[in-house]
Amino acid sequence: MTDTANRIKHVASPLARQTLLDGDLTRPIAGRRPIPILPWVQVVKIGGRSIMDRGAEAILPLVAELRRLLPEHRLLILTGPGIRARHLYGVGLDLGLPVGSLAPLAASEAGQNGHILGALLAADGVSYVEHPTLASQLAIHLNAARAVVGSAFPPYHHAEFPTSRLPIHRADTGAFLLADALGAASLTLVEDVDGVFTADPNGPDGGQAQLIKDTTAAALAQGPATLPVDPALLEVMANARHLRQVQVVNGLVPGRLTAALRGEAVGTIIRTGAPPL
Ligand SMILES: Nc1ncnc2c1ncn2[C@@H]1O[C@H](COP(=O)(O)OP(=O)(O)OP(=O)(O)O)[C@@H](O)[C@H]1O
Ligand SMILES: [Mg+2]
Repeated sequence: MTDTANRIKHVASPLARQTLLDGDLTRPIAGRRPIPILPWVQVVKIGGRSIMDRGAEAILPLVAELRRLLPEHRLLILTGPGIRARHLYGVGLDLGLPVGSLAPLAASEAGQNGHILGALLAADGVSYVEHPTLASQLAIHLNAARAVVGSAFPPYHHAEFPTSRLPIHRADTGAFLLADALGAASLTLVEDVDGVFTADPNGPDGGQAQLIKDTTAAALAQGPATLPVDPALLEVMANARHLRQVQVVNGLVPGRLTAALRGEAVGTIIRTGAPPL
């Protein structure tokens, strides 16, 4: 074989002669921090059950607050699926559907809520966009408009892990994966409670529940029996590359989201495992 043929067949790459299974060999190349793609975007996840399902009473004041935030921030607004996904899980599980069939159906409910928010903010130049557009054309959309709406549900779809009969990667996890991959300025999770409590404030022991103002994903994984966020969120937070924290805030209280986006602690701050800058 000539030298020329060798050069053509052997592409120069620092990983060319290594197994990708050996962490010690790949770490010098793959262990570096990724670049932040959109370091100025603020990501806001609006709860499906906690906000969208409440209808006009909860949605309209929050839309007005989002509208007022547009001159100050460039936003990626992501929506959760809410009660319709719970109904769908009930019907689908009764019929024996696998988790890979349930995940895309639940994702479409999150998308419906996004379409609703997109329509309410359309006059301000805001549109709902699908995941492939979020993945590859978010920058151009955010240069044309101050905000974009998308589905918070991650598109694992038929490849959702069969760990449980319900999709484990849900809206909070999807919002975090996207925000961290973008290297976003922040992620705020908007709920109908003041933050994460020691127990469900709307549950039987709600009277004794205390607000946790500042915690870590690792501590929460050992903490309250129930949470207002997906359990899988805590796992992905442990491996965060950019985001050092997320904040859970009450979207039913006017001004809380605005304060959170200005960097104020007005809910529960959950710290990730991301290394310091
Ligand atoms: N430890 C806890 N602290 C605070 N809220 C809790 C806790 N445990 C359970 N909750 C409950 O979680 C509720 C929010 O539910 P959930 O997180 O499912 O809604 P959501 O985020 O709007 O849903 P979606 O996935 O559709 O976006 C709160 O109203 C509260 O009652
Ligand atoms: Mg929630």
